[in-house]
This record gives sequence, C-alpha cells and structure tokens, in this order.
Amino acid sequence: MTRAGQYRTVIALVLPTLVAMPTLVFARGPTPDGAAIYAGQCLACHGANGAGTMPGVPDFTGSSGVLRKSGYVLLSSLIDGVQRPEAAATVPALGGNPALTPADMRAVLNFL
Ligand code: HEC
Repeated sequence: MTRAGQYRTVIALVLPTLVAMPTLVFARGPTPDGAAIYAGQCLACHGANGAGTMPGVPDFTGSSGVLRKSGYVLLSSLIDGVQRPEAAATVPALGGNPALTPADMRAVLNFL
C-alpha cells in the first residue's frame, strides 16, 4: 500500500469515530426540566406558587423553612416519599410517578 493509501485508510477509520463522538458523549438524554416536572407532578398538592393546596402540605413560600433543609434530606424525601407522624398528608415517592427518576427529583428541587 502506498503512503497516501495508508493515510486514506487511517482517515477512513478515524473519521466516523470523531463524527460519532458527540452522540456518544451526549447520549445520556436531555437534562430533566424541573419546571415541567413540577407542573405535571407536584402542582396538584403544592400549588402553582408553592404555598400548598391542602392542609398538611408545607408552605414553600412562608417561613416554615422546609426548603432550607439540606439538599440530601429533601432529595431523599422526594425519592422515597415521606409522611411524618405530625403531618396530615404524605409526599409520594417520586411525586407519585414511578416513571420519574432520582435525576428528575434533583432537577425539580433545583427548580424550587
Ligand atoms: C399527594 C400530594 C403531594 C404531591 C403529589 C407532592 N407532594 Fe410534596 N409534600 C406533600 C406533603 C403532604 C408533604 C409533607 C410531608 C411530611 O412532612 O410528612 C410534602 C413535602 C414536600 C417537601 C418537604 C420534604 C421534607 O423533607 O420536609 C418537598 C421538598 C416536596 N414535598 C416537594 C415535592 C415535589 C418536588 C413534588 C413533585 C415531584 C411533590 N412534592 C409532590 C404532598 C405532596
């Protein structure tokens, strides 16, 4: 094989890899949209402004300070669900939608 032929072979092998690279790197799917998840999954109980729509739901806007808890506590509340003995109602695991993922919960927390 001539030197030019060797170069051509190398380019033919390397080029498709380079072209495919962005797809491989970004193939993990789009970043979850926290606002959309909130609207679809949380709004019914927490309300459009986060004040809560029924007794037992914490008011995110008031001085209750719920959202000042550590991100770790809040994230595990959302992934596993939580019903404290003193609370009248429960926040369901994954907002009640098993199709959602922990990454979705992180996105919605960032949105809050
Ligand atoms: C069925 C009604 C309901 C739905 C749906 C719901 N929540 Fe809740 N949420 C609650 C209630 C009730 C509590 C208080 C639970 C407790 O303290 O025992 C709560 C608590 C919380 C807390 C505080 C957790 C803590 O550790 O104190 C956060 C943050 C939260 N919800 C966010 C969300 C998000 C985000 C969604 C959507 C993915 C969601 N909730 C869906 C009713 C709901």
